Amino acid sequence: MVVLISGTGSNMAALVDAAQDPGYGVEIVAVGSDRRSARGLELAERAGVPTFVVPFRDYSDRAEWDAAMADRISEYDPDLVVSAGFMRILGPAVLGRHTAVNIHPALLPSFPGAHAVRDALAHGVRITGTTIHFLDEGVDSGPIIDQVAVPVEDGDDESSLHERIKGVERRMLVDTVGRLAREGWTVDGRHVRFGRTEHSVTDATDTKEQR
Ligand code: GAR
Repeated sequence: MVVLISGTGSNMAALVDAAQDPGYGVEIVAVGSDRRSARGLELAERAGVPTFVVPFRDYSDRAEWDAAMADRISEYDPDLVVSAGFMRILGPAVLGRHTAVNIHPALLPSFPGAHAVRDALAHGVRITGTTIHFLDEGVDSGPIIDQVAVPVEDGDDESSLHERIKGVERRMLVDTVGRLAREGWTVDGRHVRFGRTEHSVTDATDTKEQR
């Protein structure tokens, strides 16, 4: 798998840790970012995982950046791309070539976009959470694989709530990505189930077409 990050990379680090165990069934072939300053890059390098950066501002438009990102990812020939705290929208060049999953710090379809935790707090919800879903070309709109609820506590601010969500999110991400790798998956419309009945990690393109 190639894991994409934009910042701290704590979710990516949890995957790198899990992948140390051969029984987990995942090899992380590279960690990529849109930002040279992403703190998680150093962490990946220390763990011996190759890294690459495709800075958004080096390209004249989104399509060019997306094409460059697709080329860099393809160099590693991953079965799956995991967007784990990656704050840019992947476009048709990447998604046409690769199956990708994303984690989002809210219970989709509520609160899509870049400020999910802030938006949930502002709305006054008592329960929010985290979602892992396949990426399509919309914003946080692809088929949902798993979700875990997290209660909002009195006195929560964006930072305290996000930290609590991230604790839950890391476990969900490690569990779900491991299952996708070991068991394969099937996407039927908006419904995702684990199991290698028709599609698996090695049938990534077919899975995408079925979607
Ligand atoms: C995570 O909470 C992830 O869900 C969120 O960024 C955080 C990254 O944390 N992603 C998004 O908001 C995407 N829209 P990390 O860098 O410590 O893994």
